[in-house]
Amino acid sequence: MKFGYFDDEKREYVITRPDVPLPWINYLGSKDFFGLISNTAGGYCFYRDARLRRLLRYRYNNVPYDTGGRYLYIRNNDTGQFWSPTWQPTKNALEDYRCRHGMGYTTIQSSYKGLEAAVIYFIPQGESLEVWDVRLKNNAENCVNYSLFSCVEFALWDAQDDATNFQRNFNIGEVEVEDGVIYHKTEYRERRDHFAYFACSAPLMGFDTQRAAFLGPYSGWDSPAVVKQGVSQDSIAHGWAPVGSHHVQFSLQPGEEVRLAFLLGYHENPQDEKFTAPGSQVIQKKYVKKTIKKYLKFDEIDAAFASLQETWSTLLDKFHVNTPDEETNRMVNIWNAYQCMVTFNMSRSASYFESGVGRGMGFRDSAQDLLGFVHIIPERARERIIDLAATQMESGGAYHQYQPLTKRGNNAVGSNFNDDPAWLVLAVSAYIKETGDLSILDEQVPYDNTPGSEQPLYEHLQRCVQYTLDRLGPHGLPLIGRADWNDCLNLNCFSDAPGQPFQTTTNKEGKTAESVMIAGLFVLEADELAGIAEASGLADDAAHYKQAAQSMRETVMAHGWDGDWFLRAYDDSGDPVGSHECKEGQIYIEPQGICVMAGLGLEDGRAEKAMDSVEERLATKHGVMLHQPAYTQYYLNLGEISSYPPGYKENASVFCHTNPWVMAAEAVLGRGDKAFDYYKRINPAAREAISEVHRAEPYVYAQTIAGRDAATFGEAKNSWLTGTAAWNFVAITQYILGVQPSFSGLKIAPVVPESWEGFSVQRMYRGVRYDIRVKRVGKGNAVQLKVDGEEIEGSVIPLAPKAVRKVTVEVKLGK
Ligand code: BGC
Ligand code: NOJ
Repeated sequence: MKFGYFDDEKREYVITRPDVPLPWINYLGSKDFFGLISNTAGGYCFYRDARLRRLLRYRYNNVPYDTGGRYLYIRNNDTGQFWSPTWQPTKNALEDYRCRHGMGYTTIQSSYKGLEAAVIYFIPQGESLEVWDVRLKNNAENCVNYSLFSCVEFALWDAQDDATNFQRNFNIGEVEVEDGVIYHKTEYRERRDHFAYFACSAPLMGFDTQRAAFLGPYSGWDSPAVVKQGVSQDSIAHGWAPVGSHHVQFSLQPGEEVRLAFLLGYHENPQDEKFTAPGSQVIQKKYVKKTIKKYLKFDEIDAAFASLQETWSTLLDKFHVNTPDEETNRMVNIWNAYQCMVTFNMSRSASYFESGVGRGMGFRDSAQDLLGFVHIIPERARERIIDLAATQMESGGAYHQYQPLTKRGNNAVGSNFNDDPAWLVLAVSAYIKETGDLSILDEQVPYDNTPGSEQPLYEHLQRCVQYTLDRLGPHGLPLIGRADWNDCLNLNCFSDAPGQPFQTTTNKEGKTAESVMIAGLFVLEADELAGIAEASGLADDAAHYKQAAQSMRETVMAHGWDGDWFLRAYDDSGDPVGSHECKEGQIYIEPQGICVMAGLGLEDGRAEKAMDSVEERLATKHGVMLHQPAYTQYYLNLGEISSYPPGYKENASVFCHTNPWVMAAEAVLGRGDKAFDYYKRINPAAREAISEVHRAEPYVYAQTIAGRDAATFGEAKNSWLTGTAAWNFVAITQYILGVQPSFSGLKIAPVVPESWEGFSVQRMYRGVRYDIRVKRVGKGNAVQLKVDGEEIEGSVIPLAPKAVRKVTVEVKLGK
């Protein structure tokens, strides 16, 4: 069952009923100022940091869910009836409800009692404000008198404190209202130099800023007293809960339309110009007023909206495919790329499942996200790499997370996730392969943001590799530390006290537990660093890292093979994890995908065997599960993984992030049909038809799909902020369609289904537009390339000479 449809032409997903299984959300904003918006206008916005600079209050754990948002109420003043044109919070039976989630904007439209409404929500590029562009049209046969009320509830900035520290917070709320603009200025009197504002383009009948006055005693958002009565109270918040509500009145003749705009924004004043005059407590508004004035003009709004759309067209045009499969095209050309940009901006901080409070920018997360967007915005990928590397420690290890506002490593979570450094090498290598910019290696970057500790980025990468080599266990495999990619495989944790965080509790010294997954990753990493060294003319280094990769390969083949698949780990007692010897958790997906991607077992058939085991034991119609059998009890020696009920999250769900590793591994084996089949199983667009099972948004990947052991097999959770986005983009574009940036040029190595007669890719690469047309001429994956009409040897397109801006490549696939 579907709850909407894809409008590919407009790059939108159109939701056709408001009561979707979960709030289906979208993101607004591209830099600094962001918003989350659900299909009923729920959500919130923030400046840079979803925890520390939150403008709106959002109640994650509320009933009904998705409470808190950008509320509008329309009131027919002739009948007293009122409703919300975005459905929430009044939930009237709207006609023609449509929510169009697009690239950086959301439009919600509906009709009710003869009034047609459409609201576009977006953030103009480079600005710290949301525009709500509202159009209302009277389709009734008589003239009607209307009121429109807006309402937002302000968060007192720090979302964590806002949700907990009531003894203080009920006392500190402050606002100003000037010329109809509502200014939220809690804590501005003391250390803050920022405030929020909420403006309306139309003259006001009244306003409210105290929640209790707007709602009335014991009333909820669905029946505010002010809206019921049709009269604002002009309330000024002193403490309690500041809100912003405007009241506008107008009458509409039959067929008549009115357009209004609301602006919800954030502004920072210079420290020495916070107030209008010395001794005054009144906000200095001269700067912000310019912005407000500008965006209350409809031609400015139109121009900003057009420019936002234009930007997205340009960004998405950098990579365009045309394959025989519509859902592949839809994801690669639109939604997967868009999701990659959102993960770039948000890391794992703010979504419907991430409160914006707990987790900032993840080190491994952001490094991996980069793989999915480096071709779209290489300059910002570069910046991100430097930010990440600056949180690295001198040991080569990394803070697991950092706070986006301060860019400082988060001490509460700390370090010792022993896979973390490896992803930085993969990210830098992807950046260089995409751009050819070797100069990034010379950037002077500090350790732990400490001035004076700067070293070239290349040295940081060397320390990443060395970090692992300095931490090898009894079998010569990498020690796992607190966890590797699987945050929940906590082999040194041994937690028996409720509430202890699995990720930061370490009760064992950690000198025994080893990870085969990190070993496979290390081979990938060391090979990449060898490639980087070679490209930089450092032949000795290259040889050294190749040797390091080779010796780890040998170790894995000697101690990391279980007979039919790769082992997952050794625990603190030196017993195998992910082995046929185990009672539960006999086979894990991660080492199979990663080790085969790294080329392990290709010569002796073990790679193929591992992937066959994956198919036999882990694959389901809803994707490939993380391990099997699921853990049916809590194991002290394994940690959080066994804390989840079977089939959920790290305990044997289809943990989507890992599936593209299997796709890539199948591609490495040359098995295009299998690779693509796995791709389709978790492609959200291909699952749209079972939205009642999948439940999460059909336009973006979710972190997990409940596994076979779960009561809700097939149900997706934790959509949007997941490494699944980047890795699926890599799997489909680089491994399956086989367009791979390399140090020396674009490599073409498709491993697609046998039945495909061909496909085409248009891709920007190092400033050149490549028009690649692949035609199947026989079976298998052999390629013959013709570049601008000339046949070439091999599969790498030589870099184009400077003056060339467009290259045509014809590819014969198969023999
Ligand atoms: C989740 C993991 C996540 C970790 C982050 C765990 O509870 O299951 O997916 O990576 O928290 O701290
Ligand atoms: C989600 C985390 O963000 C990511 O870093 C981790 O690798 C996966 N969960 C698996 O535990």
